[in-house]
Amino acid sequence: MSTVNPLPSSAPVSADFFRCLVSNMRSGVLAIDCGGRIVLLNDEALRLFRLPATGFSGQRFEHVLGEHPDILRVLSGVFDRPTLPSRAEIRMKSTDTVVGYSLSLVRTEAGAVIGAAMFFKDLTYVEQMEERERLRDRLAAVGEMAAVMAHEIKNPLAGIEVLAGLVRRKTPDNPDAQALVTDIINEAKMANAIVQEVLEFVRPVRLQVEPTAVVEPLTSAVALADSQARRGGCRVKVAVPDELPRIRADRHQLTQVFANLIINAYQALDGKGELRIEARAAATAEEGALVPDTQHAIPSIVVDVIDSGPGIPVDRVEKVFQPFFTTKPQGSGLGLAIVRKIVDAHEGRIDLASPPGGGTCFRVTLPVEPSH
Ligand SMILES: Nc1ncnc2c1ncn2[C@@H]1O[C@H](COP(=O)(O)OP(=O)(O)OP(=O)(O)O)[C@@H](O)[C@H]1O
Ligand SMILES: [Mg+2]
Repeated sequence: MSTVNPLPSSAPVSADFFRCLVSNMRSGVLAIDCGGRIVLLNDEALRLFRLPATGFSGQRFEHVLGEHPDILRVLSGVFDRPTLPSRAEIRMKSTDTVVGYSLSLVRTEAGAVIGAAMFFKDLTYVEQMEERERLRDRLAAVGEMAAVMAHEIKNPLAGIEVLAGLVRRKTPDNPDAQALVTDIINEAKMANAIVQEVLEFVRPVRLQVEPTAVVEPLTSAVALADSQARRGGCRVKVAVPDELPRIRADRHQLTQVFANLIINAYQALDGKGELRIEARAAATAEEGALVPDTQHAIPSIVVDVIDSGPGIPVDRVEKVFQPFFTTKPQGSGLGLAIVRKIVDAHEGRIDLASPPGGGTCFRVTLPVEPSH
């Protein structure tokens, strides 16, 4: 076991120690001198500003950070302002990153200002978590209302079906009436199916967790999707490496997740183009692993369902997960809401990328060992 010995208060701390301390900090640190030249830019700052790891010391900050006008605005005039923000947030449009920061002046022991420092933290992940939290609350409220409505509608619907059946029996010699009544019964059946789907959606997810090789639900999902939607002439490529770790998951519910995504892809492809399903393991945040506490990545499996269809417009990206949002004449708009609910129950996440050139990628990330 390693122990950490506190330094005696009089022991001098080497410049090397300070350099390593600042360099390894989880927060970004940027310091400039009074002439606006960079004195320090630690590793996290380089990562956030997407700068190569070469020395920027002595260069003017306007040159080094030219690509990030939002940061330039924060730093300009830092020596002239009466007060400096100790807790502020900006969105760096250049990288679409939300950054929390504080600014302070660097003073000598005698109080003379010799520079300024900016400390900052990437808040993008935290913000996404908050957005998910809000969506979950909204879903809970919508779900409760839908459950009540579905229950109320079920009874009169059953009544319509029974009464229509009676009319059919009473008009055996009237083919026109028979045809109309059959239509009524079919419509009532369809409404009933939607009500069932709603009730299923609002029911809490109960997982039957078991060690699962992700290839199993993926294979079942492709078969299920083929039986429920038209694949037509689209090519389907499944790439799942053999050595992937098994995950603790409910394979039937995961089948439903992937089947929904594949059905959506078939519908978007409309009989032509390509669907790719790719799975891989991820251990670090950079590889796409889950970071539940925003600090430590946990072993995860990433599954991408990618179609070459028309894509999803940017302003629709968040909406598609909302219950009842659909652009299809026969759609209920519950597919992706159910997908998100099941993925949430597995403590995973679902993301969507739709580049401007077309095509859609739904990414499901699942923990190998969920905490439940
Ligand atoms: N792969 C995709 N490409 C393009 N648009 C998509 C894709 N997947 C989903 N969408 C859009 O998201 C909407 C919502 O999808 P969702 O699966 O929740 O409902 P739905 O497919 O319309 O109906 P349901 O799944 O209940 O039959 C779709 O109507 C469609 O506009
Ligand atoms: Mg769907």
